[in-house]
Amino acid sequence: MSQPSPTPSPVTLEKIVSLCKRRGFVYQSADIYGGLNGVYDIGPLGTLMKNNIRAAWLRSLKMLGLDILQQEGSLLGPEAMWHASGHTTNFHDPLIDCLVCKHRFRADDIDINKPCPHCGNKSWTEVREFHLMFKTQVGAAADQSSLAYLRPETAQAIFVNFKNIMSSNRVKIPFGVAQIGKAFRNEITPKQFLFRMREFEQMEIEWFCTPETALDFFKLFSDARIAFYAAVGIQPEHIRLRPHEANELSHYSSATSDVEYQFPFGWKELEGIAYRGNFDLTQHMKHSGKDLSVFDDATGQSYVPHVVECSVGVDRLFLTLLFEAYHEELEGDDLRTVLKLHPRIAPIKAAFFPLTKAQAEPMKKIYQEMLSHGLEVQYDLSGSIGKRYRRQDEIGTPFCFTYDFESETDGAVTVRDRDTMQQQRIPINQIGQFIHDKINAK
Ligand code: GAP
Repeated sequence: MSQPSPTPSPVTLEKIVSLCKRRGFVYQSADIYGGLNGVYDIGPLGTLMKNNIRAAWLRSLKMLGLDILQQEGSLLGPEAMWHASGHTTNFHDPLIDCLVCKHRFRADDIDINKPCPHCGNKSWTEVREFHLMFKTQVGAAADQSSLAYLRPETAQAIFVNFKNIMSSNRVKIPFGVAQIGKAFRNEITPKQFLFRMREFEQMEIEWFCTPETALDFFKLFSDARIAFYAAVGIQPEHIRLRPHEANELSHYSSATSDVEYQFPFGWKELEGIAYRGNFDLTQHMKHSGKDLSVFDDATGQSYVPHVVECSVGVDRLFLTLLFEAYHEELEGDDLRTVLKLHPRIAPIKAAFFPLTKAQAEPMKKIYQEMLSHGLEVQYDLSGSIGKRYRRQDEIGTPFCFTYDFESETDGAVTVRDRDTMQQQRIPINQIGQFIHDKINAK
């Protein structure tokens, strides 16, 4: 009796987690020791893909044609800085424990009038505030002056460098500072894989401007960020901009919108865009005693610049792009798993296959030439061509080139498109340009 054909089914978190481990995108950190909850290592393919995400983000900022500088702030910050930013006092989440099974929850994640979702008993502790920053001691002295924290956001390192950057880079308001780097939060319940982690990476831009222009820039950045998500391959119907209600706004913000993505577990925040007023610079002025105001030639007066911030997690976007790209399709009687990643984001841009061992040498030469162009490509000689396609489909490689019996005489190879599975013949000397054009396509 013949086996029934497998049926394609929608993407789930479990499928993404399994693919990530199987193909080397993401591993549980310290896996052989049982892992560390909410902490992950990025594998070889994941590292390439994250590099592409960072590059696409920086490119999108460059395309705005605005004055945007970059910096790399330190991960450790002194207690005084986190006190000024409000994090030592305000950066906490409500925590509750089940007295029976000892399971711990974020109190705003569950209905505490109902039984524990883990054991079914209804016996709760009081709701307590749980501080989310990782605290440490710098150097040998054990007094208050050596207290430091791992940063829970990258932004503060930009605010505290505001004057350094202005005075050493000949920039004038308005300008922005962009930063990509790690952030750490001792989340009560890390969950949904890379969605809520304890160690993660952020891409943030702080845009410094006059109070009069801030809301116009807020609109400009909101539009630009939505355009960015289209440029990395997210369908417009899967993304939305949700302005915060008045009761959701921080006391210093008069406008904040979340960019939300439709995850299998619901619409959730992917990025925050916030008009922060001049709260941060004012706080650091007050606590450091340093003047962070700027002089306005037009009015002859000094003022503290206002800030529009865009902040997205690299890993959360990485997860989003995997959800967006994951497809199962029937090909004949077989199920093909394919990551339809934009060529800009795909970790491997192309794969090179000799049809048989006889074509290995000339194909290897082409492959090596692509490497010398700086392209991330793979060479594969093992298994049937169909099997080789499957392996590349599963990791999102957009193009596979095959050198066959005719290639020697017609100077061309076959290129197969990952999404349409259509094949066409292209001259060998046009392969590099072909790949570059696809990567840079809008
Ligand atoms: N500087 C503003 C700020 O940090 P946030 O909304 O707390 O704002 C910004 O974080 C973005 O960082 C989020 O939209 C999300 O993409 C990412 N992010 C925050 N917490 C995260 C976590 N625990 N794990 C993964 N990504 C996280």
